[in-house]
Amino acid sequence: MIFKDKRVLVTGGAIRIGRAICQTLAKSGAEICIHYNRSYKEAVELQDELIEAGASAHVAEANLMTETACNELMERAIALMGGVDILINNASVFNKQTLDEADMDSWLGELWPNFFAPVQLMRAFADQDIPGKVVNLLDRRVTSLDPSCVPYLISKRSLTDITKLAAMHYAPRIAVNGVAPGAVLPPPGESDDYIKEYAGPVPLKVQVSPDDIATAVKFVLENDTLTGQIIYVDGGQHLG
Ligand SMILES: NC(=O)c1ccc[n+]([C@@H]2O[C@H](COP(=O)([O-])OP(=O)(O)OC[C@H]3O[C@@H](n4cnc5c(N)ncnc54)[C@H](OP(=O)(O)O)[C@@H]3O)[C@@H](O)[C@H]2O)c1
Repeated sequence: MIFKDKRVLVTGGAIRIGRAICQTLAKSGAEICIHYNRSYKEAVELQDELIEAGASAHVAEANLMTETACNELMERAIALMGGVDILINNASVFNKQTLDEADMDSWLGELWPNFFAPVQLMRAFADQDIPGKVVNLLDRRVTSLDPSCVPYLISKRSLTDITKLAAMHYAPRIAVNGVAPGAVLPPPGESDDYIKEYAGPVPLKVQVSPDDIATAVKFVLENDTLTGQIIYVDGGQHLG
């Protein structure tokens, strides 16, 4: 039980990759606060599942589009668990938009949940003044200049940079790392064909699963020597 007594906040933890991260860390003994925005039903179902399996689990709602909402989420998680030792910034919005298509509303619609919220949550997390670890969910696209999803790409590239800056800034008290998935799941509303059509070549010719991402998050958290690292879990796709 490597994460016994560790209190973890997973943003966007109710479904998809966030759900797999919650399940994996709970299995290793962590107490989990499942953050959700719209997926209340799935969050409560996951909470029941984790409790049934012997873990401690909580749910907390927040629409991560304002500084106040981010601060209140951290306060709520601290109140529920008595503190937060590990922050997983997983919640995110993905839209395909070129530079021409993206207006300021769509820029902010991606920058807030994908970049500003993780930054503000890291700041609120650090204010606890206890040792901790942060994992930011990035994207293998951060090594490219993919013109098809510009606000998303910039939000994730910025989150990659702040991951390294925060690793330096918060050391030695807090380790900050990134996990960058390849094409794991199609965006909500798209079929599995989306991945085959748009994912592009994968050198290892493997399909990355939510469990592969969750295992990588766990690996990063287990190793006390890692900070400022970006782990690409993408079959080598970021190399292309
Ligand atoms: N899926 C992939 O193949 C892939 C590829 C590369 C990188 N990634 C990254 O890996 C992470 C997980 O991916 P995913 O596909 O599982 O994510 P996702 O389903 O697109 O989003 C995760 C959660 O983010 C939450 N969220 C969105 N807007 C929010 C807001 N305004 N306030 C609060 N929460 C909000 C949603 O919570 P509710 O459902 O509760 O509303 C959603 O369930 C993301 O950071 C993503 O960028 C994923």
